Parts: sequence; C-alpha cells; structure tokens
Amino acid sequence: MLHHPEVQVKIFSEIAEVVGLEKAVTMHDKPKLKYTHAAIMETQRISISPLGVPHMSNADTIISGYTIPAGTTILSSNEFLYRSEENWKNAKHFRPERFLDAQGNLSVPEHFKPFGLGPRACPGESIAKMELFLYLASMIQRFELHPAEPGQLPSLEPQIGMIYFPQPFQLRFVERQRV
Ligand code: HEM
Repeated sequence: MLHHPEVQVKIFSEIAEVVGLEKAVTMHDKPKLKYTHAAIMETQRISISPLGVPHMSNADTIISGYTIPAGTTILSSNEFLYRSEENWKNAKHFRPERFLDAQGNLSVPEHFKPFGLGPRACPGESIAKMELFLYLASMIQRFELHPAEPGQLPSLEPQIGMIYFPQPFQLRFVERQRV
C-alpha cells in the first residue's frame, strides 16, 4: 500500500462509496468491495512464497506421462503458478485490476489457489480471508498509510523462510479528516 498509493486511493474511494465513513466495514460489505478484494488477491499473488508445502506421493502415479514413484517428495512451484509470464501478463507489476473483468466483477483464474487445494488445503482459509479483508478495509477507511519519512519506502526484498515475510519497517497512519 505504501508503494502503490494510487491503489490505496482506489480502495478508499470504493469503501467511501459503498460503505461510507461512519459505519464499520463488515463481512456483509465484502461482495460489494470488489476492488478491495482484488487488491488483497494481488498482494497474495505477488508476495507468496516461491515453493508450496512439501507433500509425498503415497502410491505410484503417472501425471502427463511422468512416473512419480510412491514416497516421492512433491513441492509445487508457486513461483511458476503466481509469478510467471505464462500465467500472468506483466507478472512483476502490482495490478489489482487483473482480478477484475471489464464490468468490474471479480475474475479469479482457476490456478489462483494461495491456500492450496485438496485434502490438505489450509483449514484457516476462511478466517485468514476474513482477517485480511476486515483489517485492510477498516484501516484504509480510517487512515491514510504513509512512509515513516517521505520517500522512505520499505524494502520489497523479502526475508526468506518457509514463507516470505517483510523486513521490519515503519509507517505513519494519518487519520482521515471526516467532513
Ligand atoms: C493469509 C493467510 C494464510 C495463507 C496464505 C495460508 C496458506 C496455507 C497453505 C498454502 C497451506 C498448505 C496447503 C497445502 O499443503 O497444499 C496451509 C496449511 C495450513 N494452514 Fe494456512 N494459511 C493462512 C492462514 C492460516 C490460518 C489463520 C490458520 C489457522 C487458523 C492456518 C492453518 C493451517 C494449517 C493447520 C495448515 C496445515 C494443513 C494440513 O497439512 O493438513 N493457516 N496454509
């Protein structure tokens, strides 16, 4: 949000128009806050860890002509799924609009599965999505987010572990003036 103030402005405009500035944002508002939802998905796409959680094949399996023996460790390439040009046009660019169609409705590619899929998919998906939406929308409804010092943007180089996480950074919350 600090690197893309224009996205912050669009999220705020959508919230101001759909919810207003007096009432708190709730989950009932989510279906109508399409740009906000798209911005969250774009943030997940661009910041997802390069590899999925390791799994193991429990039986000999053939996929697309490749034999995968039982007991093979399998890692999905999130880098390919979420940041390759094959799957995303101008993949390096942060552009929430890629999750919206020409009518402004959400359009989520089938291969966008940041919470995994199948029997071991993330059981926290619903609560995580709720938190991402309510925190972001509530904060942007009430505050402008600015760098701690003008022009001092946080690094986009991640700290790398099992997941990508940001390096420590500071920011300023400036309360919006209600008119
Ligand atoms: C933005 C937040 C989150 C993301 C992107 C996320 C993503 C993931 C992914 C990709 C997996 C692996 C799925 C697979 O192996 O195919 C996973 C597993 C898991 N997640 Fe999450 N998660 C999030 C939040 C949470 C929360 C809030 C909880 C708990 C309340 C949670 C609990 C778990 C557990 C227990 C597993 C292991 C499931 C298993 O192996 O059967 N996650 N998560």
